[in-house]
Amino acid sequence: MLDLTVTAGLPLALDGGLRLVVPPGAGNERPAVRTLGEMRPYLADPDAHGPAEMYFMYRDLGRSADRDAYGPFGVRFDVTVIIPGAVSGELVKTAGHYHPAPSGQDGGPATTPGDRVDVSFPEVYGVIHGRAHYLLQDGRVDGPSRAFLVEAEAGEVVLVPPNFGHVTINPGPGPLVMANWVEASFASVYGPYAERRGACYYEFAGAGEGGWVGGKGGEGRVEPNPRYPAVPLERLSAPTFAALCPPGEDLWRAVKLDGRASGRSGPRPLYDLGVTEPQRLTFLTRPAAYDWGGLVGRR
Ligand SMILES: [Fe+2]
Repeated sequence: MLDLTVTAGLPLALDGGLRLVVPPGAGNERPAVRTLGEMRPYLADPDAHGPAEMYFMYRDLGRSADRDAYGPFGVRFDVTVIIPGAVSGELVKTAGHYHPAPSGQDGGPATTPGDRVDVSFPEVYGVIHGRAHYLLQDGRVDGPSRAFLVEAEAGEVVLVPPNFGHVTINPGPGPLVMANWVEASFASVYGPYAERRGACYYEFAGAGEGGWVGGKGGEGRVEPNPRYPAVPLERLSAPTFAALCPPGEDLWRAVKLDGRASGRSGPRPLYDLGVTEPQRLTFLTRPAAYDWGGLVGRR
């Protein structure tokens, strides 16, 4: 049993079967499971052999007392567990989706009348355990004009900017446990990823130590998906990516720097941020009201 309390901010643990142990009163303990069969449309090799279950989504976790604090802000807290390994050489990943805009159309809830309808909901991720590669791409309609591979480890946060779709890859030798805050009510848009069989790049396990390419945590080998027009992949660390836009910088400060200032030995859990300072997450529900420093992707 792996205790995740310190990094998660909630008394969670991971059992030997890679299932999350959720305490009573902290929300839904039964995950939505993404199976290999459901993942086939998104894989480089749709006929791949591999584990039957690839990741587990625990949606809407949170202590009931804490919900009084963040609930009025219209956000939700989820935790996802992604198994380690590869299927036909491709590192295990999430399916990938875009988010709608807060327009009341297109699957998005109407939030604030008058807001722009071309700025989709962002999302913020925090790594609880393991390592993550966030593969972000804009251009839901015409294909990406920008693509990023953002590398993050436990304690780091990654903001998915408006109009960027996202896939999470587990590049490490162990399970990846990650948290996210997101607007509570929209439905994600999976079609563009299914139509092109995944994101604009694939990441494959390299040929290093133990089957993983050299480096401490294991790095994969990226290859462009031929079903997309060519787009360069900008590979960045989590802090470098956070510095690209003001909400990302604020979030980094809130988790990494304020955590240190408040006397913690490590970073502040993302859960704690949403419970104690939910107003800092308002960019999740009203993205059009924020300056994104040019990082709002093309629709
Ligand atoms: Fe998302």
